[in-house]
Amino acid sequence: MITKPKGCYDIYGKEGRYFQKINEVVSLLAEVYHYDFIRTPIFESSELFHRGMGETSDVVKKEMYDFEDKGGRPITLRPEGTAGVVRAYIENKMYGDATQPIKFYYSGTMYRYERPQSGRDRELTQFGLELLGSADPIADAEIISFGYQVYQLLGLKNVKVKINTLGDRASRETYREKLIAYFKPYINDFCEDCKARLLENPLRILDCKVDQGNPILKEAPKTIDFLNQTSQKHFQDVCDYLDILSIPYEIDSTIVRGLDYYNHTVFEYIAEIDGKELAIGGGGRYNGLVTLLGGPETPCVGFASGIGRVALAMQEEGIELEEDTLDAYLLYVNDEEKKYAIYLAQELRLAGFKVETEYLGRSLKAQFKQADRLQASFLIILNSEELDNNEVKVKNNHTKEEELVNLDTLIYYLDEQLPTMHEEEECDCGHHHEEE
Ligand code: HAM
Repeated sequence: MITKPKGCYDIYGKEGRYFQKINEVVSLLAEVYHYDFIRTPIFESSELFHRGMGETSDVVKKEMYDFEDKGGRPITLRPEGTAGVVRAYIENKMYGDATQPIKFYYSGTMYRYERPQSGRDRELTQFGLELLGSADPIADAEIISFGYQVYQLLGLKNVKVKINTLGDRASRETYREKLIAYFKPYINDFCEDCKARLLENPLRILDCKVDQGNPILKEAPKTIDFLNQTSQKHFQDVCDYLDILSIPYEIDSTIVRGLDYYNHTVFEYIAEIDGKELAIGGGGRYNGLVTLLGGPETPCVGFASGIGRVALAMQEEGIELEEDTLDAYLLYVNDEEKKYAIYLAQELRLAGFKVETEYLGRSLKAQFKQADRLQASFLIILNSEELDNNEVKVKNNHTKEEELVNLDTLIYYLDEQLPTMHEEEECDCGHHHEEE
């Protein structure tokens, strides 16, 4: 048997519905927050990610799916969405558009060669948002609030928003020196990777997965204590705007993020899964990335969220989605009825009803069973003689009542009956789904 690669998943059934629901909420919210859809390639030239995400980040060092294509070009499966969006922004000269800032959202698969475990996959799906061309802290606050609202709309109640700031380049440089001086005497107690990180990128020591328990980390200097005035003001403004938007947040100096392109605001959304805290999303400001990749100075902010992890968090909180049910199942026996069934199925589907019919030529009795299995609200039984009179038998599968309905009025009949049936089916999120 050929099996799927390690760290990859077939997502369907109940899990597939979580994925769809999350994407649905994201695109609805993206519409009203005025973020435009973007889809960039799943593979790009390796240089984009190596340069963009930083050679010292764990993702670039250990987790890249790098390969050469048949033409000998160095290619990488994208580990994240930001670098691709920035490349598209520069390549398509969007910085010249009159409508700045440029606001994009995306959803798609990313690839990271990680050690697979619950919530840590090699093929993962992220949705994300990038706002390019504004340095204003209202942009940071908007991005943070967008993520928060997505999780709220999905019904998640226990998501914490943790924010921190790395400051601007000057503040980061001061901080970097302080960190090196702080860690130097203890560096032999750290892992081999951290020893290399000390001079290369000491910030990475703070979120080392291996050394997380080391008490030296707890006492490490905090970014927030080394901010210059501009950086302090930016962070204070972000916090003030979040207060105006009533977004609850915690300032957490341990949030430093795993990718190198951040400055100023960084944040993560934390959920508890299987008793462990897990980031279901994260992001921040990345003012230097556009120039690093060859574009003009462009301040940007964004975030991304792992859809698989959001689905896990929803399951952990017991958020159930509506069951997969049908409005109607069309039953038939002979060929004439079959032809009418496929015609009527199309008519009803185009009128917005969720309809299924028979594909396997089962007996009528077996079709009734199938309709039950698929939880059809109505059975529409096609019978040649009744069809000749322009009628079909409609059976309410809950009350078991049957009625002959004129085909010209069938749509109105179902329209009238279905909403009242749905009203009774209140799902766990407490909403009525009358129109669904
Ligand atoms: P990131 O923190 O690397 O940021 O990933 C964002 C989210 O993707 C994480 O919080 C997590 O939910 C999910 N994720 C990451 N790796 C995995 C994995 N191996 N398995 C399952 N889920 C995972 C970024 O990717 C940035 N591009 C975010 C950003 C956008 N910053 C600015 N704009």
